[in-house]
Amino acid sequence: MTATMKLVSSVRRLGCVLAFCFLALFLWGLPVARALDNGLAMTPTMGWLHWERFMCNVNCQEEPDSCVSEKLFLQIAEIMASDGWKDVGYEYLCIDDCWMAPERDSEGRLQADSKRFPGGIRRLANYVHSKGLKLGIYADVGNKTCAGFPGSFGYYDIDAETFADWGVDLLKFDGCYCDSIKHLADGYKHMSLALNRTGRSIVYSCEWPLYMWPIFKPNYTEIREYCNHWRNFADVYDSWQSIRSILDWTTSNQERIVPVAGPGGWNDPDMLVIGNFGLSRDQQITQMALWAIMAAPLLMSNDLRHISLEAKALLQDKDVIAINQDPLGKQGYRLRKVQ
Ligand code: GAL
Repeated sequence: MTATMKLVSSVRRLGCVLAFCFLALFLWGLPVARALDNGLAMTPTMGWLHWERFMCNVNCQEEPDSCVSEKLFLQIAEIMASDGWKDVGYEYLCIDDCWMAPERDSEGRLQADSKRFPGGIRRLANYVHSKGLKLGIYADVGNKTCAGFPGSFGYYDIDAETFADWGVDLLKFDGCYCDSIKHLADGYKHMSLALNRTGRSIVYSCEWPLYMWPIFKPNYTEIREYCNHWRNFADVYDSWQSIRSILDWTTSNQERIVPVAGPGGWNDPDMLVIGNFGLSRDQQITQMALWAIMAAPLLMSNDLRHISLEAKALLQDKDVIAINQDPLGKQGYRLRKVQ
């Protein structure tokens, strides 16, 4: 082969390699922005979260059955495993705010309130795991949680290690009491990396964009790189007005938020309140259908110990759940609004 032929053939080979690289980059970049690289939440998280139904009820003296306590979580775990919830996909049993003691321990570690959680979180996690379920916990990026318990600011690494050490599988990280937008962003990123460094698989549920919106428009591509799901809008309540306001917000911002959702990272319109008191039957069906279409995390907040057969059948509807859990992970758009 002459030198010229050799040169032509190498240029051709290089051309092929480059073309392949561009194609690979194109395909890689196609579906959605890059997700948090922890391999979790490839479909929207399913489970139960105490907040909307039980809020910050710490009065176990007078209301032993509905206060935020170990007893509540043990009972819900038992029911999730035995009443078909786990079988249809509800896997994460999540503690929200108000589980903590008012102070950290002498080594700066968070600790559970010892009266309400006498066995501590590690023992609770063991029990939850023995039922084939996973345990979620709650903390806050700022100086205090929204209900005033110790915040994680200045303790991100220690808290991530504590949660991993206890066997926690999901962290809901709230955004109260954060003094600047820079602290908010830095804190959410720091905790994401700290959780990854523990080596334990911990789903990371953020409220980062919710706290950013009043100041400026969140960068969802960046949020997706750090979080597995993120709350955008106000807390859900047990009323149709609340569900409507979430749907209105979601649809009026859909051009910005829908394209970013996909395997590994999801918009979180907050909990399912099906099975409580405020929604009619049709409104409950509507919440289930729309949360499925929105590829939303399906985190119920209700009392599984006392739930109607109708609500149970709706929440356990395998066809609707299959839409929510579609591996393609495309969030639906609103196409039309009928006045
Ligand atoms: C709110 C959060 C709620 C709940 C509550 C706890 O900010 O959006 O979902 O976690 O704090 O205090």
